[in-house]
Amino acid sequence: MAAREHPRRNAAIEARPLGYALGGEILGVDMRDPLDADTVAAIRRAWHAHHVIVLRDQNASPDDILRFARGFGDLDDHAQTPFYRKDGYPELLEITTKPKDGKPSETRNVGRNWHSDYAYTPRPAAASMLYCVEKPPIGGDTMFCNMARAYETLSDTMRGIVDGLHSVYDISLVAGFYERDPAEVAETKRLNPPIAHPAVKVHPESGTRALYVSERVAYFHGMTAAESRPLIDFLCEHATGPENVYRHVWRPGDLVCWDNRTTMHVALTDFDQNQPRHMLRATVVGEPSGFVVD
Ligand code: OGA
Ligand code: MN
Repeated sequence: MAAREHPRRNAAIEARPLGYALGGEILGVDMRDPLDADTVAAIRRAWHAHHVIVLRDQNASPDDILRFARGFGDLDDHAQTPFYRKDGYPELLEITTKPKDGKPSETRNVGRNWHSDYAYTPRPAAASMLYCVEKPPIGGDTMFCNMARAYETLSDTMRGIVDGLHSVYDISLVAGFYERDPAEVAETKRLNPPIAHPAVKVHPESGTRALYVSERVAYFHGMTAAESRPLIDFLCEHATGPENVYRHVWRPGDLVCWDNRTTMHVALTDFDQNQPRHMLRATVVGEPSGFVVD
């Protein structure tokens, strides 16, 4: 572990809003310090209020990231996408534009359409924590939108409609999916058959209701694709309008934590794809949900 000139305590935690719709910066936390229950509780409160929280200027090792993330729940070992794990760290996904073993990185194009993590699995992610190791000089930003606000700002009638729907998630709708290695595409499809989840999620801790529809939804269960399409498009457009978005401009040493029950995100291609962009993600598992459709 790196030597530290000014040991800090996690006692005084503050959150400063970063956006009107969502996003808050947590001040006064050093990920290298052990996490006590009060700190976890304070961070959770801020997280429920802001949906996406940002810790800046960290100097975290893979072990620090894992220790911090474990403070917020059980971590996923990413068995649903086994090809993207960091060597020796199954609980860290490596999201990188850097070639691996002389081949293009399989994660170079992760997150290119609006989504909530692991929605195409029977145990969608509760939360994700993405740590920036290296970023291009310009761009490589990530945008987040508030799905609780998206739900609240629908008409009563439309809320009534979506309350009764199930979204069918299909991993093949991940943008750029078929640009990946064909054997890995086949295997990840086999591991993740289309699955239906309620189109409105009730947050198990805060009770907040949030829209659970994304650009990876093929149709609503019991409806045809043609019937579903205009509604999926409307809901995605409604949710991702600029006034409902926080755009994160990364710096190395940033940890961005998002609640997958109340937000969606998208990784932008606003950078030179030959430049290194290197991130590590820990994933807090959520509650089992949904049913596989045939
Ligand atoms: C993710 C993801 C966003 C990014 O890690 O789940 O979508 O900006 N990544 O890399
Ligand atoms: Mn993602």
